[in-house]
This record gives sequence, C-alpha cells and structure tokens, in this order.
Amino acid sequence: MKKHSIVIAGGGSTFTPGIIMMLLDNLDKFPIKEIKFYDNDEERQNTVADACRVIIKEKAPEIKFLATVDPEEAFSNIDFVMAHIRVGKYAMREKDEKIPLEHGVVGQETCGPGGIAYGMRSIGGVLELIEHMETFSPNAWMLNYSNPAAIVAEATRRLKPNAKVLNICDMPISIENLMASILELNSRKEMIVKYYGLNHFGWWTDIRDREGNDLMPKLKNHVKDKGYAIEFSESGQHVDDSWKSTFTKVKDVYALDPETMPNTYLKYYFYPQDEVEKANAEYTRANEVMDGREKHVFGECNRIAQANTSEGSTLEIDEHASYIVDLARAIAYNTQERMLLIVENNGAIENFDPTAMVEVPCIVGSQGPEPLTQGQIPRFQKSLMEQQVGVEKLVVEAWEEGSYQKLWQALTLSKTVPNARVAKELLDDLIEANQEYWPTLK
Ligand code: NAD
Ligand code: G6P
Ligand code: MN
Repeated sequence: MKKHSIVIAGGGSTFTPGIIMMLLDNLDKFPIKEIKFYDNDEERQNTVADACRVIIKEKAPEIKFLATVDPEEAFSNIDFVMAHIRVGKYAMREKDEKIPLEHGVVGQETCGPGGIAYGMRSIGGVLELIEHMETFSPNAWMLNYSNPAAIVAEATRRLKPNAKVLNICDMPISIENLMASILELNSRKEMIVKYYGLNHFGWWTDIRDREGNDLMPKLKNHVKDKGYAIEFSESGQHVDDSWKSTFTKVKDVYALDPETMPNTYLKYYFYPQDEVEKANAEYTRANEVMDGREKHVFGECNRIAQANTSEGSTLEIDEHASYIVDLARAIAYNTQERMLLIVENNGAIENFDPTAMVEVPCIVGSQGPEPLTQGQIPRFQKSLMEQQVGVEKLVVEAWEEGSYQKLWQALTLSKTVPNARVAKELLDDLIEANQEYWPTLK
C-alpha cells in the first residue's frame, strides 16, 4: 500500500490530537509517510503540535512531522488536505451565538444568523486553502469538515467548481452510532441507509441490516419516546448535557414526520422559540467548549510537551472520526465505500434544484463521489429545503458580490428569523462584530 502525506489545516484545532491518535491507530489501513500541520495562528498550533510530535515519536517514529504557518511548506508534496479551520476561532463563535440571542433569535454555530455570520467568515478561509492545494499539490484531495459545511460547500461548488474537495459532516455518523446502540448492533456499519437533505438538515428514510431486514420499526419505537437518547453515557464528542438534551429533543422533531428519522439540527428550525428559552444568553455552547474541550485538550497538550511523554494522558482517540480514514481510503484505494457526503444534487433528489448542495449517500472511489439517487421527496421536506437552500445560496452570492441586500434577504428568508425588521437589526450588529473578517457590504 502506498504511504501518504497529509496536511492538517487548522492544526491548532481542539480536534487535531484526537484525529492524529485515530490516524496512528489506523496505519495498517492507511499508511502515512508524513504529517504536516498548517494554521494561521502559530502559537495555538504549536501548543497542539508540540504534544503531537511526542505522540507520533512514541507510536510511529518513522512518520515525518512538521508544523508550519508557511503555505508553500505545508501544501507541497501532499496527497490529502484534512481541513477543519474555524475562521475567527471561539471568540467569534461566541458572538455568533450571543448576538442573535440578544434579538430573541436562535444563537447557534451553524444554523440561523450565527451560521450565516460564520459562513461569511469561512468562505474566504476555505477557498484560500483550496488555492494553496491547487498551487503546491494539484493532484491532492481535500477532505473538508470546516463549518458551516452547507455554506462552505455551496461556495466551493460556485467559486471552485473543479476543485478536488469532498465536504463531509460527522453528525449523521454520530447519530448512526446512537441508532446502532438503540438497535443493539455492534457497529453503524451493519446498517445500510437511505438519507436525503442538506447539511445539518436531513432525514433517514430507510435503514436496513445487511440481510435487508427493515430496522425502522424498532428505531421508531425508541425515538417516539426518547429521541436518540440512550441510557449509558459514553466517552467521545457528543456527551455534554447540552448534547444529551439535543438527542432527547429529537422526539419532538420526529413527531413532525414519523415516517423518517431526523437530523438533530432540525430542532432549530421547528422549535426555535424552545431553543431561545432554554439558552443562557450569558453562557452559550462556545463558553462550554472553551471551558471544557479547549481547556482539557490544551492542558493535556502542554503537559505532554513538557513531560516529553504521553504516558497517563487523558486525550482520547477520536474513534468516530475514523470516517476520515474511510474517506481517504476510498479515494486512495478506490474502495467504493458508501458514505453520506455533501455533493451537488444533479438529479440525486429528483424533484429538487439540480444545483443545490445536498447530503445524500454516495459511492466513493478514486474518481470521487457518485451520488445515489433518492427519488422524489415529499412536499414538507422539499419546501423546507427550498427555503434553506435559498438562504445558503444567498449568503454565497452576498459574499461574492459584497451585497448587503442579499445578506438581508438571506437572514429574512431563514426560518429562524421572525421578520425583515429583526433581520436588518441583526445584520447591522453582525456586520459590526465581523468587520475584521467579512468583505465590505454595499
Ligand atoms: P478551533 O478553533 O479549536 O480550531 C480551528 C483552528 O483553525 C484554529 O487553530 C485556528 O487558528 C485555525 N484557523 C482559523 N482560520 C484559519 C485560516 N484562515 N487558515 C488556517 N487556519 C485557520 O475549532 P474546533 O472547535 O476544533 O473546530 C474546527 C472546525 O471543525 C470548525 O470549523 C468546526 O465547525 C469543524 N467541525 C466540523 C464538524 C463536521 O461535522 N463537519 C465536526 C466537528 C468540528
Ligand atoms: C457536530 C456537527 C459539527 C459541529 C459540532 C459542534 O459534530 O456535525 O458540524 O461543529 O457538532 O460540536 P461542539 O462540541 O463544538 O459544539
Ligand atoms: Mn456537521
């Protein structure tokens, strides 16, 4: 098997150490020659890199390792870019969440006005990574999970139509892990699913085991009372109480269409007022993450670097991020794995805009993804998706044209925003907060 060289863009991410440990755990399936980190915040990246250097030396000393803020050094001679940047970091995530709440509107990282604001920051950052890749390693592929993935994916479709970039989200994977637990299966990979939607905005329509037995009835029986909540708590990414409450709220989201299984994020569109009432405008998810995951990961990184050993470390392998290995392997070894990706619709959903970026099952091989057709979708989902895809396309057009008008339209169109007046007040506050990051809007 060929050994691969990868660059992790957003080397300073809180998810980087878990992903490195996961990659090191999968070297038999996906051999690695070199790992590079790239970030535009040198100090933040060094904290993570100094620990990862120790971990790599312990587990796979043959792998070359380098952390840099120089694009040429980072993006030269690589096969894959694994991209998870957060333009504006948690300081801006906090504003994305708190500013809408001041207006009585959902304050969320990827949904509603927060997601729109984050999108306006991310587009430029991700396009720049693609340009670096195309300049220095034109044959490489980018696996992108930088958020808000829906808006970022639409931007890459529109502005970099030939780029070798695959946009993927881990939420369906996490949910499928929960489904597998509910169904008492050993792994989510025992399920074959049909699914359609937009990123953070989709539905499972069919879930079967490998023999073709319908698993939906058992799942429905659980979800109608408990959502995706399960008894035992596990280690990993979605374990904080706020996530548990999200998994429980799925029960109310499911009630809208008991024939399908919903993505958790739909709660922000169906029950925005419940989310606003539950939120603490002084202490949002960004604060939880800064006080929780960021403190823990950076504290452990500092300790490992100082002690020059990872012994006794409480950093966890990001097991469920193994989908990143599956995706890289699909491209590298043409495995034809079936995975949910965010791709241009192009007929996969028959009665939906062919130019929309949709989330559907794809067969992935060395030529990239082949979307699997999901047929016609019902009026309820289709209408919701048309409204939401309109928001996402308007954001990208607003960014490209520097259009105040289009961004106001995007905010007004979002199902989370009550009216055009609130949309305008919000927009003016968001412009003020994002001066450093957004293009100037005229
Ligand atoms: P983080 O803030 O800890 O890390 C992001 C890193 O990106 C920071 O070190 C920052 O300096 C760097 N960065 C910002 N702008 C950059 C630029 N223009 N060029 C290079 N580096 C840049 O964030 P996190 O919480 O670890 O999340 C990282 C990203 O992964 C976010 O976009 C998050 O939304 C995303 N994410 C996506 C999924 C998914 O399902 N798609 C799952 C988890 C996280
Ligand atoms: C899920 C979503 C991601 C999102 C993350 C936020 O995994 O799929 O797109 O970034 O949740 O998690 P956090 O713990 O940072 O709130
Ligand atoms: Mn996601």
